[in-house]
Amino acid sequence: MLNLLNSFLLVAYLSIGISAQNTNFDPLKYVNQLIGTNNGGNVFAGATLPYGMAKAVADVDGQNTAGFSTDGSNVTGFSHMHDSGTGGNPSLGNFPLFPQFCDEDVVDNCNFLGAGRATQYVNESVVATPGYFALELVSGVKAEMTVSEHAALYHFTFPPNRTTRNGTAFSPLILLDLTDLSASRQNATISVDEKSGRMMGNGTFIPSFGGGSFMLHFCADFAGSTIKDNGIWVNNRAGTEPKELFVTRGINLFYIEAGAWIRFDPTESNEISARVGVSFISPEKACQNAETEIPGPTWDFEGLKTNAESTWREKLSGVSIEIGGADENLLTNFYSAMYRTMMSPQNYTGENPLWGSTEPYYDSFYCIWDAFRSQLPFLTIIDPISLSEMVRSLLDTYLHLGWLPDCRMSLCKGFTQGGSNADVVLADAYVKNLTGIDWNLALRAVINDAENEPLDWSNEGRGGLQSWKKYNYIPYLDYDYLGFGTNSRSISRTLEYSYDDYCVSILSKALGLANYTTYLARSGNWQNLYKDDMRSVINGNDTGFTGFLQPKYLNGTWGYQDPILCSPLDSFCSLTSNPQETFEDSIWEYQFFVPHDIATLITQLGGPDAFIDRLDFLHESGLTDIGNEPSFLTCFLYHYAGRPALSAQRVRTYIPDFFNTSTTGLPGNDDTGAMASFTAFCLSGLFPNPGQNVYFITPPFFESISFTNPLNGKVSTIRNVNFDPEVDQYIQSATLNGGNWTRNWIGHEFFSEGWTLELTLGGNESAWGTGDGDVPPSVSTSSMASMMF
Ligand SMILES: *[C@@H]1O[C@H](CO)[C@@H](O)[C@H](O)[C@H]1NC(C)=O
Ligand SMILES: *[C@@H]1O[C@H](CO)[C@@H](O)[C@H](O)[C@H]1NC(C)=O
Ligand SMILES: *[C@@H]1O[C@H](CO)[C@@H](O)[C@H](O)[C@H]1NC(C)=O
Ligand SMILES: *[C@@H]1O[C@H](CO)[C@@H](O)[C@H](O)[C@H]1NC(C)=O
Ligand SMILES: *[C@@H]1O[C@H](CO)[C@@H](O)[C@H](O)[C@H]1NC(C)=O
Ligand SMILES: *[C@@H]1O[C@H](CO)[C@@H](O)[C@H](O)[C@H]1NC(C)=O
Ligand SMILES: *[C@@H]1O[C@H](CO)[C@@H](O)[C@H](O)[C@H]1NC(C)=O
Ligand SMILES: *[C@@H]1O[C@H](CO)[C@@H](O)[C@H](O)[C@H]1NC(C)=O
Ligand SMILES: *[C@@H]1O[C@H](CO)[C@@H](O)[C@H](O)[C@H]1NC(C)=O
Ligand SMILES: *[C@@H]1O[C@H](CO)[C@@H](O)[C@H](O)[C@H]1NC(C)=O
Ligand SMILES: *[C@@H]1O[C@H](CO)[C@@H](O)[C@H](O)[C@H]1NC(C)=O
Ligand SMILES: *[C@@H]1O[C@H](CO)[C@@H](O)[C@H](O)[C@H]1NC(C)=O
Repeated sequence: MLNLLNSFLLVAYLSIGISAQNTNFDPLKYVNQLIGTNNGGNVFAGATLPYGMAKAVADVDGQNTAGFSTDGSNVTGFSHMHDSGTGGNPSLGNFPLFPQFCDEDVVDNCNFLGAGRATQYVNESVVATPGYFALELVSGVKAEMTVSEHAALYHFTFPPNRTTRNGTAFSPLILLDLTDLSASRQNATISVDEKSGRMMGNGTFIPSFGGGSFMLHFCADFAGSTIKDNGIWVNNRAGTEPKELFVTRGINLFYIEAGAWIRFDPTESNEISARVGVSFISPEKACQNAETEIPGPTWDFEGLKTNAESTWREKLSGVSIEIGGADENLLTNFYSAMYRTMMSPQNYTGENPLWGSTEPYYDSFYCIWDAFRSQLPFLTIIDPISLSEMVRSLLDTYLHLGWLPDCRMSLCKGFTQGGSNADVVLADAYVKNLTGIDWNLALRAVINDAENEPLDWSNEGRGGLQSWKKYNYIPYLDYDYLGFGTNSRSISRTLEYSYDDYCVSILSKALGLANYTTYLARSGNWQNLYKDDMRSVINGNDTGFTGFLQPKYLNGTWGYQDPILCSPLDSFCSLTSNPQETFEDSIWEYQFFVPHDIATLITQLGGPDAFIDRLDFLHESGLTDIGNEPSFLTCFLYHYAGRPALSAQRVRTYIPDFFNTSTTGLPGNDDTGAMASFTAFCLSGLFPNPGQNVYFITPPFFESISFTNPLNGKVSTIRNVNFDPEVDQYIQSATLNGGNWTRNWIGHEFFSEGWTLELTLGGNESAWGTGDGDVPPSVSTSSMASMMF
């Protein structure tokens, strides 16, 4: 299914000759924003600042979840806000602009409707670099864009010297469409000022994977020539009167296409600039955002672009790499992935109309089910200052809305997929000493998740809490009158709630609650769904393994779900289509989701060798979808069985084959940087077990990689000795700061103290990291103390 060779992108990436430790090293050269812009990666390819609210790009009519795609579809507009890598409906893309000439220079001849104006772009013309995006339409109009935090600046260059049949030069026209990528608008208002050409307004839209609605405001100014005329358009008809418009949904929710337009007198350069401010507060605030961030009289496009570049350069230069003869593409793979981990959550501080607060406000946690596993842990390393703000925002949301978010986009609550995964984010932040967090508030927030059932647990908290506390599992077809949500996923929810409760116990114990033991006890609830005589058959063949999780009714009787259901060998199971007792993955995959107690799981599954056979079968039989997040941790569980070499080997079966630098180079939705963080961690040689102070050690894909801690400037390095990128290599021995290191894992102190880990490599699996005392801690083993404190 992967088309690994995508020719038109090879462009600038062929002539890489320098290595990353070079003093002239510029990480921006290794950012390829087009990775994952085809084949469902849904990566945002356009111009943005780290976590920026303004995200400008061309929108196409094909795979447009993030606006643009290299799937050969056509451009319908240029819009100012997007999400990256998401899997719901196409997200944002509100109020697109579109530049064109009208046939015979008659306004009413223009193509106002989305389908009519859709235009191919010249494939070779696409330029996507940090803070910048450009392409040329086959109509001859060139579009370039860059951004500030809350505004986008466009340069549209119309073809010069084109004339109508009677010799009149065409007047450049730019329209603004009161729509979004999902055509979710409920109603909208626009006005155009005849003299200045300023367009202002707002619309109410539906979030792309959530409930409710949100209002977004805009303010568009234009420059480059004198204004010829302007007005509004409705249904492919346009006029210079009136100058204002209100649209709403008609009978049968009829969706009218409408907006405003402006034309300019032709000039020799025919370059028209558009500055668009956006805001969730008011049209006036949208104008203010644009005016303060992109001040006049001349809007400094180059200055803005340079600022975006230096902001990104600073973010990315915290990591340096000695490539040591490995494939140069790995640098592009790494820095592009690192870049994508900073698309979302988006910093909407100062733009939250829902409550007043001096705390930061971040949005596009889309969703935490994806982000808690490795994206947010990656930010703990490369950008703890921003992550602190994100965590404070989660807590402030709890304070004002009553619940920690599980998923959030466009000011709205998104749909919960698994458990209350923000509990894991908070425990992870705690064990890694993230600063500036009110931990007592955090404790209240996670206990709220664990103790109180919301009326609507499809977008916050947990369902079935009465049964959870009474029977110690989530029953199949539960009797739950306290709240409502999709009454499915009883197995995956049991697993997730178990781990969430483990995370609650971490915070409870740390903050002195004696009843942390209750949560610790509940974290073992997953064992209640283990049916020890259950077998799994594929195409009539028994897989040879006995003992699988199964659904269980309230009365304690077993239900049935085929362990391969919801795997790539069977059918996909989502919230709404084909809901089952596991969410988006199989019992085969979920049986390993016991991040806090793999030791007990190993015993349950028959000891280390049987456990390894089962993990191998999971990865080698087609049961694993590496394009979905539950698979991430299963690549590293060999560490717990004392076989770290097998984790290293497993990772190399997925990277670079499934995560590479082509436009089709991702195995699934990037999920706001989840796939990106998996890539970046794996290449680095450390992978987190989120919620715990544990990173699994495997050889980096480079000779060495160093991280500068943004809080204290300390540099941590992981280095391969005897590195040979041509062959598979395994750790023979290791030193930490020069002393022996036999554990196959390490804590976050590595990053906070700036330590050096040297891994001596060889061609065969060795005894390193295989001893009982070398494996990562599990809650049931004596290492519990070191795990928690
Ligand atoms: C761009 O490439 C795609 C295939 O990748 C093709 O469908 C499309 O026609 C090309 N566009 C132009 C303008 O040649
Ligand atoms: C894009 O436009 C070209 C030329 O008008 C057309 O042939 C093609 O079918 C369009 N592509 C899509 C996906 O609509
Ligand atoms: C457009 O016409 C002007 C005046 O005739 C001429 O100077 C200029 O070179 C032309 N530009 C292009 C791109 O052809
Ligand atoms: C040329 O055609 C345009 C559009 O049809 C019209 O507005 C304009 O007056 C015409 N100019 C001349 C010189 O005939
Ligand atoms: C616009 O739509 C929203 C959501 O349906 C509704 O709450 C609001 O009242 C509408 N505004 C107007 C002016 O009709
Ligand atoms: C929406 O925009 C219109 C036009 O600028 C403005 O009159 C109106 O006050 C705005 N609505 C809100 C709620 O800000
Ligand atoms: C988030 O945005 C606010 C308001 O623009 C700003 O003060 C803050 O520094 C931003 N946070 C980060 C981490 O850049
Ligand atoms: C544990 O103690 C906290 C603080 O008093 C309380 O909110 C919570 O409900 C208790 N949990 C249990 C399971 O007793
Ligand atoms: C069942 O297993 C046997 C022996 O491994 C194999 O030859 C056969 O192809 C398998 N059948 C199916 C349907 O997978
Ligand atoms: C338990 O409940 C299930 C579902 O209602 C039912 O099929 C089963 O017969 C019950 N078992 C017993 C022992 O009552
Ligand atoms: C380091 O470990 C090796 C085995 O890997 C052992 O032979 C050696 O004595 C150890 N050195 C120290 C100082 O503990
Ligand atoms: C967190 O802080 C404590 C107390 O200062 C320290 O003992 C611990 O090592 C720190 N943990 C990390 C991961 O830095």
